[in-house]
Amino acid sequence: MKSKDWLNRQKRDFYVKKAKKQGYLSRAAYKLIEIDNKFQIIKKSKKILEFGAAPGGWSQVVIEINPKIEITAIDLLELKINHPQITFFKDDYLKFNYSKKENYYDLILSDIAPNTTGHQSTDHLRLSNMLFEIIELIDKILISGGTFVTKIWKGSEEKELINKLKKKFKIVSYFKPDSSRKDSAEIFIVAINFIK
Ligand SMILES: C[S@@+](CC[C@H](N)C(=O)[O-])C[C@H]1O[C@@H](n2cnc3c(N)ncnc32)[C@H](O)[C@@H]1O
Repeated sequence: MKSKDWLNRQKRDFYVKKAKKQGYLSRAAYKLIEIDNKFQIIKKSKKILEFGAAPGGWSQVVIEINPKIEITAIDLLELKINHPQITFFKDDYLKFNYSKKENYYDLILSDIAPNTTGHQSTDHLRLSNMLFEIIELIDKILISGGTFVTKIWKGSEEKELINKLKKKFKIVSYFKPDSSRKDSAEIFIVAINFIK
């Protein structure tokens, strides 16, 4: 194993162990903690939608930071956290009935990810296609001034995704959390102040 691979493995294991010890359902929880430390988006929010919420690490972080918040969580897989503030829909995000939630959320989080093939550009295209659909949905359900945070996998569609977001939000920033492997194509986009 190359020393860079070894270091990355060590780091991954470090966060997996840390999550277990601290009772988080996923190591991804640390990514949201880092995002919130930098951008301070959770405390000021009242209604959140999470695309791809299972097993529930991000939901745990959200509730910890803002116990009064209302969360709508969507995933194909079961959410492993039960909380009175969380309404969970076990379904494809495209099947959710958004018509009752028009102009409703002030924060939308997406950690959604398709099943990976291991072929980086195929995986990138699959996630990007989901995100293009999610960006369309956001138009309806996010309030003016709202915030959108999403994971992307870097690649050919990245520029178009960012350009779309730049037309809809006043500030669009890239963020690579320390808890995200340096060698992964993953990066987070924080889009602030939605223009309706
Ligand atoms: C990286 S995981 C999310 C981890 C989560 N943020 C956490 O901290 O526990 C990505 C999730 O996206 C979900 N997903 C993939 N395709 C989906 C779809 N079409 N509709 C809803 N959820 C989907 C997967 O089931 C998976 O649970």
